Formats: sequence, C-alpha cells, structure tokens
Amino acid sequence: MGRVAGKVALVTGGAAGIGRETAATLAREGAQVVIGDINIDGAEKAAADIGDAASAVRFDATDQQSIQDLVGAVLERHGRIDVIHNNAALVGPDAWFTDSTVIDTSVEMWDRAFATNVRSIFLVCKYALPHMVAAGGGSIVNMASIGGMRGSTALTAYGTTKAAVIGLTRYVAAQHGKEGVRCNAIAPGVIRTQQLLDAVPDLPQQALAGVASPRVGEPSDIANMVLFLASDDSAFVNGEVYRVDGGGMATT
Ligand SMILES: NC(=O)c1ccc[n+]([C@@H]2O[C@H](COP(=O)([O-])OP(=O)(O)OC[C@H]3O[C@@H](n4cnc5c(N)ncnc54)[C@H](O)[C@@H]3O)[C@@H](O)[C@H]2O)c1
Repeated sequence: MGRVAGKVALVTGGAAGIGRETAATLAREGAQVVIGDINIDGAEKAAADIGDAASAVRFDATDQQSIQDLVGAVLERHGRIDVIHNNAALVGPDAWFTDSTVIDTSVEMWDRAFATNVRSIFLVCKYALPHMVAAGGGSIVNMASIGGMRGSTALTAYGTTKAAVIGLTRYVAAQHGKEGVRCNAIAPGVIRTQQLLDAVPDLPQQALAGVASPRVGEPSDIANMVLFLASDDSAFVNGEVYRVDGGGMATT
C-alpha cells in the first residue's frame, strides 16, 4: 500500500519543477492526482508521463473564476479532494529580474506576485475547504520559501508573498484543524529546477557554499516532504512550517 493510497490530490503548478516531481511522487504512492497549471501542454505531458493516476486541468492562478473551476474539476472527476499542494507561483526570469528592492520594485510586480502566490492559495482554500470539511478532513501543503522567513537585498515582492503564505497557512490550520483539516507549509532553499537554472545558471553552485549539506536541493527533496505532510504519517502536524534547505538557514 502506498503512503497516500486512495487519496485524491490537487497539485498546482505541476507542469514543471517541484510540482511535477510532487505529482509523480504522490501518484507513485497511490494517489489520484490532478495537475493544475497555466501551461496546459506541460501539465498534460506531466500527467501522461505519470499514467492513469494523473490528469491535467488548465487554470490561471491570478483568476478567481479559473480557481473555482479548477476545484470544481477535481470534484467532478473524483468526487472528493483530500490533498492540495499549493505550489504554483510567479517565478522565472521575468520575475527574478524585476522584483528588486522596495524602492525599485514596481507596484505592478508587487500586485502580480501577491495575486499569483497568495491570493490564489486563499482562493483554492476558500473553494476546497467546505468539501474537505464535509468529508471529514484533508491535508493542504502550501509552498513558501526561506525567502519568507528572512529579509534579503532583492526579491522583495516574492519574499513578502512567501511570508504571507506562512501566515495564511496558520490561519487555515487554526480555523479548520478541529474539523480534521491540516495545513502546513514548506520553505525550500535553492532547489535545482529548470526555471532557476534558466534564470541564474550558476545559482546552485553559489548555493552549495551556503548549505550544511554535500549537495544542493533537488525537486525530490521537496516532493518527499509534501508526501510526508500529505500522508497520515504527519497526522498530528498542523500549522507548521518546514524548512527544506540543506541546513542553509542553520549556518547563517
Ligand atoms: N526552485 C527553488 O529554488 C524554490 C525555492 C523556494 C521556493 N520555491 C517555490 O516552489 C514552487 C515551484 O517552483 P519551481 O522552481 O518548481 O518553479 P517552476 O517554474 O518549475 O514551476 C512553477 C509552475 O507554476 C506554473 N505557474 C506559474 N504561474 C502560474 C499561474 N498564473 N497559474 C497557474 N500556474 C502557474 C508554471 O507554469 C510552472 O509549471 C514555487 O512556489 C516557488 O516559489 C522554489
């Protein structure tokens, strides 16, 4: 029996990177997985690579109706929703190079980052929670970042959204824990995904110097933490933030 056998999982941003690896991991451990992504070709390819346990839905994390439709599609396909990995976020070169200091970051970037990274999670939870509660519970795993746990000389909007994700995580846990819903967050350090390599090719090498680990992070490191938090192994863990950063913050 897999560790999430029989559960229905929604993974947002599952067309690439960490989300793609998480979708594959949850499916391997017995879940039925719906991959939601704005990149529908990538999401369909990811689902096809996984096989019968996965399917794809196009959605835009900045669009309220699209999020409501995504949750509706999961319920229509599977009749329930047990696990949500809120992973989609505004990442990639257009964000990394325009999200800067407080003075230099545009209001447009700030608003886009909050819409994509925080408002989307609020809305996914808003539409999915009544169904989770009615079914007796579920597990929500939100994607934060170590950038939300400290300050930095750049990525002001991104880092602040990730701090907000941590706050929202605790509010969901506090409001629905008694009803069997757990809501936790993961705060990764640098994880070697393609979007990161495309934006800053030598970032993994730079990051290696700052971690208490012989290697940098891989998507599977995060997928394995999502699996733990999605599974009943973490039944008494709620409202928590797990750093998965190879000891990076422990060394600074
Ligand atoms: N890679 C890292 O080093 C790192 C570190 C800390 C946190 N994170 C977080 O992990 C998550 C995944 O990052 P990744 O590196 O795997 O990125 P990625 O670019 O590989 O994957 C992000 C996915 O989100 C999708 N997406 C983006 N905007 C969307 C929108 N508006 N609507 C729907 N889908 C959208 C993309 O199409 C993509 O498939 C993000 O929340 C990111 O902030 C990553």
